[in-house]
Amino acid sequence: MKRGISYVCRECGFRTAKWLGKCPSCGTFDSIEIFEEKVHSTKRNFPRIEFLSIDKVDFSYGERLKTGINEFDSVLGGGIVPGSAILISGEPGIGKSTLLLQVANSVSRAGSVIYVTGEESFEQVALRAKRLGIASDRLFVVAEPNILKVLDNLERENPVLLIADSVQTLYSDELDSPPGSLVQVREVASRLVRFAKETTIPVIMIGHITKEGSIAGPKLLEHLVDTVIYFEGDQQNFFRILRTTKNRFGATDEIGVFEMSSSGLIPVSNPSAAFLANALLDNSVVYPALEGTRVILTEIQSIVSPTFYANPRRTSSGVDPIRLSIIVAVLETRAGISFSGCDIFLTTSSGLKVKETAVDLPLAISLYLSLSGKKSGVLAAFGELGLDGSVRQIFQPELRIKEVERFGIKKIIIPDYDRINHKTSEGVELIRVKSLIEALEAVE
Ligand code: TYD
Ligand code: MG
Repeated sequence: MKRGISYVCRECGFRTAKWLGKCPSCGTFDSIEIFEEKVHSTKRNFPRIEFLSIDKVDFSYGERLKTGINEFDSVLGGGIVPGSAILISGEPGIGKSTLLLQVANSVSRAGSVIYVTGEESFEQVALRAKRLGIASDRLFVVAEPNILKVLDNLERENPVLLIADSVQTLYSDELDSPPGSLVQVREVASRLVRFAKETTIPVIMIGHITKEGSIAGPKLLEHLVDTVIYFEGDQQNFFRILRTTKNRFGATDEIGVFEMSSSGLIPVSNPSAAFLANALLDNSVVYPALEGTRVILTEIQSIVSPTFYANPRRTSSGVDPIRLSIIVAVLETRAGISFSGCDIFLTTSSGLKVKETAVDLPLAISLYLSLSGKKSGVLAAFGELGLDGSVRQIFQPELRIKEVERFGIKKIIIPDYDRINHKTSEGVELIRVKSLIEALEAVE
């Protein structure tokens, strides 16, 4: 065996033959790390491979392990697949350890669960468990950062689930690099993945992400695992959202909603009700966001006020600031509404991060109402805005309308669809608009 040495960017995975101070691919400084790989130099004789035609494939993954926490099971596509490797990442302090301790506790009803931590001491985890009211004689905590030592001991315990907190603090003593370095993070993750595949014991690993949102260390990790779940939310508010971005065993973009409490995370089974918990006012604009397979209602709130600065402020939370700038530009050029000399503050209720362009229309309406001071009564809207001021159709209008109706909202502004497979209930006004101007006229 000889060792191949290359250099890899911690942020984007760019590979280079020599060390560089700045990554030429993503532009980050000081992110290139040495990367050693074991390379086999001699030709080996492998055992014969059976080539199977695709119709011979057995589709059963084996019975999924239900964690008993519904919001968690549903983001996984109905529970944990045997032998799967799951990565849960989120900013420090968002609640990953808390959530997984609760998951561990719930699963321990089915058999022993091992919670390996390189992050905290046994006492710290036990203290948290106590605070969460967790006590189970089948939940074992191992405060041992050397992953090889832990894996070696696991066979005799034969757990139903292994949790590793976190890939950045665990390490393999076969490598010299410090814990958290690219090489170690990758090694720990691949050891865990291999363990899962060989034993069919599923593994959930925690990964910290940097402020920019990438999983610290390597994006490379995402390729290793079967399922990638982000745990997100504002530090300031109580909701936490699990979002699947990759799932070999289910749909992606599925979300699970939790509320933080002093006794841990509580699943929220009716997220629209939670996000719209505050009474709607007569200038409230509600947006039905499609998250995975379900629609979640959130309110788009804005303030437009005279600025005291040379450069007016444009602040948004929950909506991409670039999208906000585009919508402001469309309002200015296509509807002749000027926001010059105005600060704009925009937020979604309860900090839900909206990703679809379907938010364009409610966003524009909210800005318009804030600027003009008009009151239109509670309304809901969705639709994408073109730069030409046209309102474009988006996916799943029926599903969105249904959820809006369920909350008793009577006025819904939507793109001009030819056909909608949904009969609205009595008293609900569906206003179809082709352009931004038509939409603004409808709220007058
Ligand atoms: P923690 O689970 O340690 O976050 P992470 O593992 O992602 O870094 O949670 C951070 C802090 O928040 C911790 O002090 C416990 C507290 N917390 C609650 O009090 N209630 C909750 O529901 C959650 C999720 C956290
Ligand atoms: Mg933690």
